[in-house]
Amino acid sequence: MKTPSPQPSPAGGRGSVKPWMQTLRLELREFTRADFDELLRLDSDPRVMKYINGGKPSSKKDIEAALGRVARYYRSWYGLGVWHATRRDTGAFIGWYCLKYCPPTCDVEVGYRLLRQAWGQGFATEGATELVRYGFDDLGLDKIIGVTHPGNRASQRVLMKAGLDDAGYARRYYGRRLRLFVGHRDARQVSAA
Ligand SMILES: CC(C)(COP(=O)(O)OP(=O)(O)OC[C@H]1O[C@@H](n2cnc3c(N)ncnc32)[C@H](O)[C@@H]1OP(=O)(O)O)[C@@H](O)C(=O)NCCC(=O)NCCS
Repeated sequence: MKTPSPQPSPAGGRGSVKPWMQTLRLELREFTRADFDELLRLDSDPRVMKYINGGKPSSKKDIEAALGRVARYYRSWYGLGVWHATRRDTGAFIGWYCLKYCPPTCDVEVGYRLLRQAWGQGFATEGATELVRYGFDDLGLDKIIGVTHPGNRASQRVLMKAGLDDAGYARRYYGRRLRLFVGHRDARQVSAA
């Protein structure tokens, strides 16, 4: 899998933003304000939002606020963020991936949200696996977590395929009872040896 070193991207219009990371089929880059319509489309699908907030679409105000937070995040936390994802073959937007702090903890979580038409093709697994590798090998994180709604079997399967282990229900995240998945760098090095 081709994985050039992540590099900071300049702010600016959509076409001018450099790729931040590539996998075999995906290109990830920083979000800009110009991505508003794509993000709105993603968050307007109740199937996508089912396990996030019960299926309620995000409002335009929510999307504006999210884009502002995401832009500040790149500057605040080196190497972490939420990245816009496209297919490398068609250039089509498919959703986003993240590696970011998971409130109310100091743990870093891997996450993803994809358009319905992109599901079932291994895209979530491909992006999450690469972000977990990047988190451990390039950022030197000791631990990476994933948290899912108890009913979100597809996401749980993705986290396990990305190398995280089911840790049950340790505590609440985002004020909700979510299922925890955990990966440790040391365990990964041992299993690779
Ligand atoms: C969760 C999500 C990212 C999965 O994306 P995806 O690209 O379809 O995932 P992948 O194709 O890489 O892998 C999905 C895996 O889950 C499995 N799966 C799918 N639905 C399932 C279900 N209902 N029960 C059990 N397993 C299921 C698939 O078979 C596949 O496993 P396999 O490769 O071993 O067969 C996508 O459904 C999504 O964006 N959902 C909306 C947002 C969301 O819920 N994000 C996660 C928040 S924690």
